[in-house]
Amino acid sequence: MKAAVMGYGTIGSGVVEVLEQNREVIATRVGEEIEITYVLDLRDFEGEPIQKKIVHDYKVIAEDDSVQIVVETMGGVEPAYTFVKAMLLAGKHVATSNKALVAVKGAELLALAKEKNVNFMFEASVGGGIPIIRPLNSCLTADVIEEITGIVNGTTNYMMTKMTTEGLEFADVLKDAQAKGYAEKDPTADIEGYDACRKIAILTSLVCGRQVDYEDIPTQGITGISAVDIKYAKAMGLAIKLLATSKKTFDSYAVMVAPFLLSPSHPLYSVQDVFNAIFVHGNMLGDAMFYGSGAGKLPTASAVVADVVEMAKNVGHNIPVEWQPTKLELADPAQMEYRYFVRAAAERAEVEEVFGKVAYVEAEGVTGEVGFVTDSMSGADYEKKAAALPGVIQMIRVA
Ligand code: HSE
Repeated sequence: MKAAVMGYGTIGSGVVEVLEQNREVIATRVGEEIEITYVLDLRDFEGEPIQKKIVHDYKVIAEDDSVQIVVETMGGVEPAYTFVKAMLLAGKHVATSNKALVAVKGAELLALAKEKNVNFMFEASVGGGIPIIRPLNSCLTADVIEEITGIVNGTTNYMMTKMTTEGLEFADVLKDAQAKGYAEKDPTADIEGYDACRKIAILTSLVCGRQVDYEDIPTQGITGISAVDIKYAKAMGLAIKLLATSKKTFDSYAVMVAPFLLSPSHPLYSVQDVFNAIFVHGNMLGDAMFYGSGAGKLPTASAVVADVVEMAKNVGHNIPVEWQPTKLELADPAQMEYRYFVRAAAERAEVEEVFGKVAYVEAEGVTGEVGFVTDSMSGADYEKKAAALPGVIQMIRVA
């Protein structure tokens, strides 16, 4: 069976490596070998073995009827969208790792795949190598999914782990993450939470069957987290993690991305370093956790190739995925109730006047401010109270 790869970067080259290294076992599972015929890239890879497969025009792939499966690992919405659409229109199956593309165009590309009786798969777009898309689409279809909460960004989880274990400041940890190749030169998408936001938008779209626009999701990254916050977290025996969370309300989902304080009893507390984990609660299933390598070349390529195998086993058959283009109006996450850890340059009497009884926290060596945890209240109530307390420095929700 002939396949093509669009984008020979980290993940695309990983896909070629996985197909080569596991050639035999994959051939056994599919029933025939999968051969990469073309690799689309702007570069020539002069002198490298891949050079003979390189093409620079996506139409070469689209117009070759012998190619049945195409992998898109270019990233970004354009030109990936134009190329993927052309492949589907040409009757080819497409697997992608591109969360930006899936979050924005997922519903449309799934509909097109259905129309052309092929498949559009995107297991690697969330959680890297961790199976989560296929479990949601096929194993958990008996349930109403009431909650999905995940650590879905490896870079920021690595940074939070490092800040906790080594007591370092954000900027130093970021430099370390960049030196290790976890964080990009421009780390904005990871540290501002945009990457996690697109991933929770995809997961929520899949469980509600409608379009969740990532722009509607309140998103806060980890750039505001300091070594002092970590000191307080340690004093409370809690860990700060960037969570992407989606909870069912009466007729919608309340979705947000933000740093949270987790207690050791929380299922995501022990997820360290670049690992990802996704907690799912179904109304029949109860709780389930998906944990593993959420980023990186081979784990992500493993998920892409698993899609390739699934598509190769389903030539001539569209596997239905419930994700309609109709937009879901998200519920306001400010209605969700949490306890709040707050730091303020204020007196205890001022704090109590606004918040009533709170639990104070002392952090080693921190002076000139007060740290406390409020009772449980809605985000809207918290905002009202916080506006009445001068000198609020920080607020982190306690999950
Ligand atoms: N930048 C992403 C992360 C890559 O750190 O998790 C995987 O989507």
